[in-house]
Amino acid sequence: MKFHVLTLFPEIPRAFFESSIMAKAVQKGIIAYDLVNIRDFALDKHKTCDDSPYGGGAGMLMMTKPLASALDSVKPRKKRVIYVTPSGKKFTQNLAYELSRESDLVIICGRYEGIDQRIIDSYVDDEISIGDYVLSSGEAAATVIIDAVYRLIDGVIKSESLEEESFSDGLLEYPQYTRPEEFLDQKVPEVLLSGHHEKIRVWRLKQRLAKTMRMRPDLIAKARESGKITKEAEKMIEEITRIGEQ
Ligand code: ADE
Repeated sequence: MKFHVLTLFPEIPRAFFESSIMAKAVQKGIIAYDLVNIRDFALDKHKTCDDSPYGGGAGMLMMTKPLASALDSVKPRKKRVIYVTPSGKKFTQNLAYELSRESDLVIICGRYEGIDQRIIDSYVDDEISIGDYVLSSGEAAATVIIDAVYRLIDGVIKSESLEEESFSDGLLEYPQYTRPEEFLDQKVPEVLLSGHHEKIRVWRLKQRLAKTMRMRPDLIAKARESGKITKEAEKMIEEITRIGEQ
């Protein structure tokens, strides 16, 4: 997959592409990226990239022509164009899976108060928000999306890790422990030292259910709707609820 990131601050996403697991994926040729500096398409000697909104109002918009030229410079014919904005649809793990199947993702990092609606109408396939809060930098939001997407691509990380993590089956992850056995006056739960795989599986499922019920009851309802809560899990939910009521 190739990410084409359109930005006024390429140094922000560059740090991500050049670090850690992403850097390895790039080196292996699984991921490619192109940082398109919108300022390179500015029309005046001051490299102006902002403009005032028609109708007045606070703040500036991104200037139309440099942004449109930057978009035109991205060549693959089959590409999906994303504009990251707090007024987009909410980013989810399901959307990350969907985007991970594309060959070329073009991501417009918004700055200022946003971009001209005609650019959205002519170029953008998806307007995506990473959550109900406002960032000053579209680059931070774009990096969140890139991170969630690239790690799902074959060969980037082990598929077993993906199967077990939060959201993989609609539940949050179970608690994890590493050495030493006793730390900060707390012991690792006995069952994890037992080597008994079935008991560990049952304990982990119960922990996942209890945590999801506590932190994100909405996810339990959703998992139930899509038939992801097994009979075994329903029994555990009953038990956790009973204990909670005592
Ligand atoms: N740009 C600013 N805030 C954002 C958000 N919450 N999601 C996506 N892009 C943004």
